[in-house]
Amino acid sequence: MASISKLLSLSSQLESISDTPQLDCELLLCHVIDKDRTWLRTWPDNTVSPTHQTLFKSLLDQRIKGTPIAYITGSRGFWSMDLNVSSDTLIPRPETELLVEIVLKLGLPSQACGLDLGTGSGAIALALASERLDMQWFAVDAQLGAVELAQDNCNQQQLSNVSIFQSNWFDAIKQQDNKFDLIVSNPPYIAKDDPHLSQGDVRFEPKTALVSGVDGLDDIKVIVSQSSMYLNTNGWLVLEHGYDQGKAVRDLMLFAGFNEVTTKQDYNNLDRITLGFWK
Ligand SMILES: C[S@@+](CC[C@H](N)C(=O)[O-])C[C@H]1O[C@@H](n2cnc3c(N)ncnc32)[C@H](O)[C@@H]1O
Repeated sequence: MASISKLLSLSSQLESISDTPQLDCELLLCHVIDKDRTWLRTWPDNTVSPTHQTLFKSLLDQRIKGTPIAYITGSRGFWSMDLNVSSDTLIPRPETELLVEIVLKLGLPSQACGLDLGTGSGAIALALASERLDMQWFAVDAQLGAVELAQDNCNQQQLSNVSIFQSNWFDAIKQQDNKFDLIVSNPPYIAKDDPHLSQGDVRFEPKTALVSGVDGLDDIKVIVSQSSMYLNTNGWLVLEHGYDQGKAVRDLMLFAGFNEVTTKQDYNNLDRITLGFWK
C-alpha cells in the first residue's frame, strides 16, 4: 500500500498543466480519503487503501487532462460556504468575494430586497443572503442547470430568504411587482476571441457563463440599460467585470444616469467592480 507522501509525490505529473501541482494533488487526496490538508501533513507515512489509491489515480488522470479541480471534486469554497459546482456554470472565483464585501458595506436597510443576475452556483446571492438574513433575495440564471444547482446550494445552506428562478436577465421579473434596492451581477464579460478561452481551467467552463460578444460588454450593456426600471430610488447596481473594462462600464453607467459611479480594485490592484446608485 502506498503512503500519503508517496501519493503526493505524483504532483510532479501536474507540473505542466497547473500552477499549483502540490495543492491540486493534496485537494484530490483529501477528497478521496475525506480528510483535510492538515491531516495529510501530520500523517505523511500513513498508508492509503488500494480502493482509495485507484480512485485517487483516476482523479489525478482527469486533472492531468486539464479538468479543473472543482469539477473533479464537485465543490468549491466561497465566502463561508462549500458550494456544489457543475459544468453548467462558472466555478466561483475568489475575486468575486470582493463584490460581496462591497455590498455588505453599503449598509442596506433591513427588509431591503436584492437581485443577483446570472447567479450560477448561487455564490453571490447565497453569500449575501447568509450575511443579511433580514433582507429578501432573488437570484436568476438563463441556464436551467445553473438554477437547479443554485437551488441545491441554497437548500444545503438552509437559507429561506432566497428565491431562485430561470430568467433571461430581467425577462421573467415582473417590473410592476418587483423593485429592488440592489442589483448585483457577475455576468459573462470575456470577448469572444479572447485567447484565454482556450487556456487552463476556463476551457472546461461553459461559454454561456463566460463570453459576451466582440468586446465582452454585450451582457453588461443589457443589464446597465435595463436596471433602472427595476431599482427603487437610491437602489444600487454593483457589477463585476474584466480588469480592462472599468472605464467602459463606468461610461455605460453614467450614460444610463447612475450616480456616484466608482470602480473598485481587487487584491491585485486591478479594476474589478463598478457600482453606482439610481435616484
Ligand atoms: C460569470 S458567470 C457568474 C456565475 C456566478 N454569479 C458567480 O459569480 O460565480 C455568469 C452567469 O450568467 C449566466 N447568464 C448568461 N447569460 C444570461 C442571461 N441572458 N440571463 C441570465 N443569466 C445569464 C450564466 O449562465 C452564468 O451562470
